Amino acid sequence: MTKRVLLIVGGGIAAYKASELVRLLKKAGHSVRCVMTEAAHHFVTPMTLAALSEDKVYTTLWDLKDEAEMGHIQLSRQADLIVVAPATADLLAKMAAGIADDLATTLLLATDTPVHTFPAMNVRMWRHPATSRNIAQLRADGVTVHDPDEGAMACGEYGPGRLPEPTAILAAIEAHFAAPSPASAQSIGRLSGRHILVTAGPTHEPIDPVRYLANRSSGKQGFAIAGALAAFGARVTLVAGPVTLATPAGVDRIDVQTAREMAEMVEKSLPADAAVMVAAVADWRAEAPLDQKIKKAAGGTPTLHLTENPDILVTLATSPHRPRLLIGFAAETEDVIPHATSKRTRKNVDWIVANDVSGPPGQSVMGGDANTVHLVTDTGVESWSRMDKTMVATALAARIADALDA
Ligand code: CTP
Repeated sequence: MTKRVLLIVGGGIAAYKASELVRLLKKAGHSVRCVMTEAAHHFVTPMTLAALSEDKVYTTLWDLKDEAEMGHIQLSRQADLIVVAPATADLLAKMAAGIADDLATTLLLATDTPVHTFPAMNVRMWRHPATSRNIAQLRADGVTVHDPDEGAMACGEYGPGRLPEPTAILAAIEAHFAAPSPASAQSIGRLSGRHILVTAGPTHEPIDPVRYLANRSSGKQGFAIAGALAAFGARVTLVAGPVTLATPAGVDRIDVQTAREMAEMVEKSLPADAAVMVAAVADWRAEAPLDQKIKKAAGGTPTLHLTENPDILVTLATSPHRPRLLIGFAAETEDVIPHATSKRTRKNVDWIVANDVSGPPGQSVMGGDANTVHLVTDTGVESWSRMDKTMVATALAARIADALDA
């Protein structure tokens, strides 16, 4: 669906990526109109953006001709989404303070169109308390602030502050448009008539009646996906490990504890048009769980003998009832993309959604509200920018709807 994007290009070295973003947005069928700050002119020319957007590029508030033709209020009103990329520390500070001293900041203050900002700056500027305060303020004001990527910077330092790749920015923009809000009601019903199976959460593998083996999965990502698929009109069966989350609207939920119970319920829920296996299934279980609590007095430290659990995803991939679209998740702590790519082939699935689950408890993707995922398909790897898990869910639901329609 064609949308109108107003792209505000700030003045940072990453401004060169704006040209590629314009090209990708146009290729995706959207119309793009660009506004540049004064500083942006030092990094990219209006001519480049005008050629790629096939439209005039707006640069100054004082161009009377523009005000007669197209005032700054109309510029923002005529957009479905305003994207600020790169959003410099200076531009974010002005937005947070409500300063309107050029065309970009004036139309950002004058708009009620949704605004997505993609900050890019030196790592120390990103970590400065003033920037953190401005970002917190902008988020409180309803502006979507995407986290920058981490990596080597043009200034020679390393850390967070890089503008995400244009493909990742495009994915975030598409996720915004795909969100089933009243503004994009065309998503509703896109999956009606489809049955989709989702697994979510951890599994608990008993050791004795009071102890179990588990992992830190919260189930949030899987529940969000089940909810998004139901919002798109699918009949959703959610096989959930032990979590404390509310069942999303319109979802049929089956609660299980162990991997073997999850495997059995997945099997019973077939056939399905698609399956999204988000659960962090325990790879092993205690070989011989005890009926009574293991007592310290029994002498010495007990030895736990483990045995492998069935791989539900592999079983599904080889089943005569294999869903047409089979999607696995990959929870990785290193070499995320290579591991996910080989997991896709090894498990014979169509897509793998890979996420980096490293990091200390409380700061990891596991249990958190945001996720940075890489979608690995037969055509390659798409890295999406860091988003709220509900946004990841909506973007994935939109991709599933596209694939099942194809
Ligand atoms: N999975 C499954 N059954 C298992 C283990 C994993 O269905 N017993 C599914 C998960 O739901 C996920 C995918 O397989 O969709 C990958 O899970 P992950 O834990 O990342 O990989 P593993 O298969 O456990 O491989 P490894 O431990 O080597 O990373």
